[in-house]
Amino acid sequence: VQKLGIDSIGFYTARHYMDLSTLAVARDLDPNKYHIGLGQYTMSIPAPNEDVISMGAAAGARALKNIDKKTISTVIFATESGIDQSKAGAIYIHRLLNLPPHCRAIEFKQACYGSTAGLIMALPMLLANPDQKILLIASDTARYGLNTPGESSQGCGAIAMVLSVNPRLVSIDLRTGYYTQDIMDFWRPNYRDEAFVEGKYSSRMYLQGLNETWSHYQAATELGFQDHDRFCYHTPVPKLTEKAHKYLAKHCKVTLNPEKSNAHIFDSLIYGRLIGNTYTASLFVCLVSLLDNCPDDLSGERIGFYSYGSGCVAEFFNGTVSPQYRDHLDTDFNKSMLQTRLPLTYSQYQEFYNFTLPVDGSTVEIPALAKCDYHFTRLSEHKRCYEGEHEPVE
Ligand code: HMG
Repeated sequence: VQKLGIDSIGFYTARHYMDLSTLAVARDLDPNKYHIGLGQYTMSIPAPNEDVISMGAAAGARALKNIDKKTISTVIFATESGIDQSKAGAIYIHRLLNLPPHCRAIEFKQACYGSTAGLIMALPMLLANPDQKILLIASDTARYGLNTPGESSQGCGAIAMVLSVNPRLVSIDLRTGYYTQDIMDFWRPNYRDEAFVEGKYSSRMYLQGLNETWSHYQAATELGFQDHDRFCYHTPVPKLTEKAHKYLAKHCKVTLNPEKSNAHIFDSLIYGRLIGNTYTASLFVCLVSLLDNCPDDLSGERIGFYSYGSGCVAEFFNGTVSPQYRDHLDTDFNKSMLQTRLPLTYSQYQEFYNFTLPVDGSTVEIPALAKCDYHFTRLSEHKRCYEGEHEPVE
């Protein structure tokens, strides 16, 4: 049987962050509410010249480093922070990355689940054309109102994955468990920039989705909790992932000591604690965090993945880490990219947050407040312009 999965991964986040200790002072709260209560330390905040396109392109450039671009047949862009109702963000990224013209470009949406939908739907396409590869990009900005309970669970970032046969990083098992239910736990009407959310209800529904997808997954695979060596969960806040993992173990009647629980999830949460929620990218940020930070050799280990998108659709699936995966990681870049982010003062945070664009078609040059390879440069006649580094296609 042909293996299908993730051949390379690129990761990117905004160049500035908000320290939750700084936010705690502004909100007159104990910082432990964020550090201990949510497991969150800092969150990436996009500058006016950064958005889902610029971050997605930057992640894409990393994922394509050692890939022949002519083999990319399709770019799938998953986001819930899209810049246009009609045109796919994938088309902008296709140009910025200088991908060949005979390549499809499409956008997927279902809250944080859109990227998993992209993965599960794209992989079987590779069976028909095993010489081709698919570029899947997940990029989002989590934005809630200032001074609302969701504020401390913001963040932004992007993941790009090249999908192929005989993947060098992780092969994905197409036997999965999935679940849909029409609920209003988190949503963002077309006329709003910030999401509405029922925080406690959404957290309950996240756990219910885990319960439902796990049963369906078990029926499909006959795999038990103990057949998985590590777990990656969609992580709106790290504390919810810790709770979900305990919840799943209990559901499966497995006794988990803290050491075992840490071995399962600790390394997957390291990057998320620093960048915050990244919606569609979040589950795969956990994967990169695990691969980059786990001191053990993960070759041959099975990872369980739980994807949840509000509204809601959820899916549980698994993947097996390839031998020699370490030779194909981008760990040094990822770590230095995180280390070189700049802290925002509270007033700079407000300035970034409140930056708005004209809606009357007038031209604005976007202040280049973040130093990045790809950026949103101007808005003119309702058209967004991007610039970025790219090499010509051969
Ligand atoms: P909150 O108001 O910060 O929660 O909201 P809280 O007041 O219950 O506090 C959280 C924890 O901090 C509690 O512990 C407190 O006891 C503790 P717990 O009861 O949970 O064990 N605490 C402290 N601990 C130590 N020292 C202190 C202290 N003070 C309090 N001094 C919530 C948290 C996540 C609900 C909020 O951030 C929110 O509404 N976020 C947005 C929605 C969200 O993330 N939902 C998660 C599930 S839905 C989802 O994952 C989908 C999503 O990604 C969107 C999509 O699919 O597109 C959101």
